[in-house]
Amino acid sequence: MSTLRACLFDLDGVIVDTAKHHFVAWRRLAEELSIPFTEEDNEGLKGLSRVDSLEVILAKGNLVLDAQTKLQLMDKKNAHYLELVSTMSPDEVLPGVSAFIADAQANGVHIGLGSSSKNAPQILELIGLKPAFEAIIHGNQITLSKPDPEVFLLGAQALGLDPSECLVFEDAVAGVEAARAGGFPVIGIGSPDVLGAADAVVPGFEGLDWQAIPGLLA
Ligand code: BG6
Ligand code: MG
Repeated sequence: MSTLRACLFDLDGVIVDTAKHHFVAWRRLAEELSIPFTEEDNEGLKGLSRVDSLEVILAKGNLVLDAQTKLQLMDKKNAHYLELVSTMSPDEVLPGVSAFIADAQANGVHIGLGSSSKNAPQILELIGLKPAFEAIIHGNQITLSKPDPEVFLLGAQALGLDPSECLVFEDAVAGVEAARAGGFPVIGIGSPDVLGAADAVVPGFEGLDWQAIPGLLA
């Protein structure tokens, strides 16, 4: 294994729990379209882009819509989502994340973001973590969504590093797949039952420090 020189973090579900807000916003839209939408359905949308998420919901309802209507629906969902996240603050950074980032930085590790979300810079700003990131790759900069590795490859490129030198942290199946497809080591955040394809899985960052990483990946 090459020496690890950077961490590439997914945002939603890794740094902050925005999945609950995405769920509420998608559910309201689905209800308006008379499509049932459960938490389990939401689970399958994790890591997918906005447009891919809408397509999954429409397919569930056997609904075929024109491009213009789909754009309007996505704008509507996003406006609701932004309303829901507008009150987020640094208190909502998930336990242990800030301490882990600080410890990694103290060990000379570079910090980058690889998120499918077009709202990622805004969310990082709201939770006060933007200054910690040397590279921020988000949904507006990519043409292919996870499970394609593009977002992480751009992150490694922005840091001037090889994928094998960048450790990805992901909570979504599509994100773990994306990391693997790009040749990145990846630690899953969540349950091994869901993220079994990752090199290692931890429930979260609480109590995790940079020194523990080689042991996890061994
Ligand atoms: C991902 C989330 O990070 O971003 C998905 O896991 C979300 O649930 C996607 O759909 C796109 O987000 P946004 O903010 O651009 O609609
Ligand atoms: Mg995620």
